[in-house]
Amino acid sequence: MDLSTIYSGINSRELIISVFGLGRIGLPTALMFTRAKYHVIGVDIDEALLIDLRNKNTFIDEPGLVDLLEDAIENNLIEFTSDFSHAITHSNIMIICVPTPVSENKVPDYRAIKDVTQKIGNQLFQGQIVICESSISPTTIRDLIIPILEENSRLQLNVNFGVCSCPERADPGKIIANFDKVTRIVGGSSQEIGEAIVTLYKSITNADIIQLSTPGTANAVKLTENIFRDVNIALINELAVLYEKLGIDVKEVIRGASTKYNFQPHYPGPGVGGPCLPANPYYIIQDADKMDYIPFLIRVAREVNDRMPAYTLDLITDALNYVGKSIKDTKITVLGLSYKANVRDIQISPSIKVAKMLKEKNAIITIWDPYYMGESLEELQIAETSQEVFKETDCIVLLTDHKEFKDIHFEEILNNRDNENPLVFVDSRNVYDPENLPKGIVYCGVGRKIKET
Ligand SMILES: NC(=O)c1ccc[n+]([C@@H]2O[C@H](COP(=O)([O-])OP(=O)(O)OC[C@H]3O[C@@H](n4cnc5c(N)ncnc54)[C@H](O)[C@@H]3O)[C@@H](O)[C@H]2O)c1
Repeated sequence: MDLSTIYSGINSRELIISVFGLGRIGLPTALMFTRAKYHVIGVDIDEALLIDLRNKNTFIDEPGLVDLLEDAIENNLIEFTSDFSHAITHSNIMIICVPTPVSENKVPDYRAIKDVTQKIGNQLFQGQIVICESSISPTTIRDLIIPILEENSRLQLNVNFGVCSCPERADPGKIIANFDKVTRIVGGSSQEIGEAIVTLYKSITNADIIQLSTPGTANAVKLTENIFRDVNIALINELAVLYEKLGIDVKEVIRGASTKYNFQPHYPGPGVGGPCLPANPYYIIQDADKMDYIPFLIRVAREVNDRMPAYTLDLITDALNYVGKSIKDTKITVLGLSYKANVRDIQISPSIKVAKMLKEKNAIITIWDPYYMGESLEELQIAETSQEVFKETDCIVLLTDHKEFKDIHFEEILNNRDNENPLVFVDSRNVYDPENLPKGIVYCGVGRKIKET
């Protein structure tokens, strides 16, 4: 395939880039190309989102994103459209950033990928390259995307068009900040096409870029990273549950084990959330299924992590029982709904699961999350301010370790209570050490048995 137009278009910035799916990954990707002075056509099926973007508004909480959006619009470097045909017929490079969730029965849902690929295939022309940044399994490019593109276009891979996998490895909340730091991985349908896309990404980022031999290998890299984390978190979650029963403090164990040169600490908690970790293992599980292979460890790790919200509920129940109370009708302050610290993001959040279970069990809950002040999420109402949330509380449950929760004024909370009962504190992220808390608290954590301070 002749790649001279691609290379000259990179040098002259005349290359036109389309980005399909303008969400948490697609919008930052589009704007990193406009930052490098490329013209970008941003495509999405959500008309309301497109109107917001044209008005320089975005729901994505990503420092620096709005500035890039304003710059791109003011310099006429970006257009937002739902007209796929316009985008496909006017661009050289098409980047797919649509969602790839897993369904309730844990099967990857590639409908958005199929939809975009079919539309691209219908109008694909000589010399174009399709890049997939969405998270997909190692076989999806080979068995789904390429066949759809070839059948719909009647063009031939690597002769008339190219395909590349550049799975997104960004850390939400730091995507812009880390854009020039996080190493990119690229796998092209041919060595030459991969090299051209490495050159393209080098023109927009100072980060290292590694070229892998195939698109599937690039996807396997992305999934391996996340499955590695999921399995290791499951391991420490499992050990934490066991150590709690054995009366051993998991935080102390991790501190000790971390002194060994080849130990990588992972931390237990109320479950694993976010857009990637709870979903990515199922892409591999589906590929394994096609090969009649059962990836036991990956499957069990998912199950262990999925059980952690229920385990956290058990911890809360046990700690309340210890002071002669039950969840029903008890005033419980819930701290944090985001799936991880210091971000405004509740995708597949275990904190939401625990909060909902407490509500179902008729606790009187007050929720505080500084990233969602006064908002209502999945029928959970978050307080407007932190002022009243600890008033007369019987139990504090820390679910997300936002930095704002690292210095809770327990003495003040205890002094402002009329209640004679000890205050129960369930620290599901093991942020605190009971030794450092004031007297009058019944403390427990994940993998840490109940202690009276
Ligand atoms: N969010 C993350 O932190 C993260 C990190 C790494 C990888 N990823 C992966 O990136 C991909 C995109 O995720 P996201 O978080 O940006 O999703 P998102 O839900 O934030 O955004 C997806 C966008 O795609 C649009 N869309 C849906 N179907 C479409 C279609 N058929 N055609 C065009 N647009 C369509 C939606 O309207 C939405 O605006 C997923 O595969 C995800 O797994 C996400």
